[in-house]
Amino acid sequence: MNFRYVKQISDLFKKNVLVRVDFNVPIKSKTVLDNYKIKKSLATIKFLVEKGAKVILVSHLGRPAGTDKKFSLKPVAIELGKFLQKKIPLLGVTDLAKVKVQVAKLLPGAVVMLENIRFVKGEIENSEKLSKDLANLADIFVLDGFAVAHRSASSVSGVAKYLPAYAGLLLQEEIEGLDQVVKKPKKPLVAVLGGIKMETKIPVLKNLLSKANYILVGGGIVNTYLWAKGYKVGSSIVDKNFKKEILRYCSNKKVILPVDVIVGSSNGKKAQVIDVKKLNLKKDVGIFDIGPKTIRLFAGYIKKSKTVVWNGAMGNFEQHPYEYGTHSVAHLVASVSKRKAFGVAGGGETVEALKKLHLLSDVDLASTGGGSMLEYLGGNKLPGLEVLKK
Ligand code: 3PG
Repeated sequence: MNFRYVKQISDLFKKNVLVRVDFNVPIKSKTVLDNYKIKKSLATIKFLVEKGAKVILVSHLGRPAGTDKKFSLKPVAIELGKFLQKKIPLLGVTDLAKVKVQVAKLLPGAVVMLENIRFVKGEIENSEKLSKDLANLADIFVLDGFAVAHRSASSVSGVAKYLPAYAGLLLQEEIEGLDQVVKKPKKPLVAVLGGIKMETKIPVLKNLLSKANYILVGGGIVNTYLWAKGYKVGSSIVDKNFKKEILRYCSNKKVILPVDVIVGSSNGKKAQVIDVKKLNLKKDVGIFDIGPKTIRLFAGYIKKSKTVVWNGAMGNFEQHPYEYGTHSVAHLVASVSKRKAFGVAGGGETVEALKKLHLLSDVDLASTGGGSMLEYLGGNKLPGLEVLKK
């Protein structure tokens, strides 16, 4: 084990523990729409509470430019309170000297939460002053928010320079799960990659090519590849900045490309199956999903896998009838994970699809990370993890 883990701390009683969680969750009309990340943080919070520590939670929410009520963590404090069956006080974040006084009054086992740390300018700049001020509140720092581990920010990596720093239980689960994919995976290792943010997918494609037996691609990766090959892809989402890379990586024999796709208009009208070889789309029509032959092709690989990792939708699954590709992959990944394979899924849309189909608990790891998971799979160093290494 390469990291310092929270379970290794021998004495937590009466210790002030600053825990960086990722409570960056969707909120509408002051209600948390998806509490998955909050639920996944409970193990560390409860562990610390049981040991008699005083827990100070810190998180960001969205990308506010300074203090902005719209980005308040109040709804999150209420949601967390429901899980812990007690009121979670939300302390101001702009005057940390005042917070220090409030924290001094806490009893063992107390849990408080700071307001959105991005209300403070120094956070994303990873300012030394903010890092020191945060460190000044606590005896120990725990990073539990895997979803933010790729950010070099005061509350993620900065503060760890000034306090003994450990990985929380969620972070440990995420690292151990992802390591079963990137370090000595049981073979065959099959990766399924979709989604549209090419700048985050290209490094993963590159890194996994040396580790995986097969990489099945869908979503925007396919659109960009077909465009780069000279097909007329109509209104499909394409990223023209990655022509060279996509042609290079997708020509590798390990990369399994769709043989048919679903094309139509963005509102789901005029949807039809087309063989990729016959693709010649007009401007008002685009590619919105993988086709039935491709689903069968992908199923063959996924069913044979002993390790499977999935990130990114196969198409615009929120618009009927473009959900079949993503839903089929969700069923396939969940079912093989339940049986013989170690299955990892991650990324906002991926977890959302599994959740919608009630398949989330079938995978071995449903990562809370989006960008951070991709960075990890891409073989990059994550600033939040680097500071926790032994
Ligand atoms: C996420 O939800 O992916 C993390 O909280 C990171 O958020 P950020 O991209 O705004 O840093």
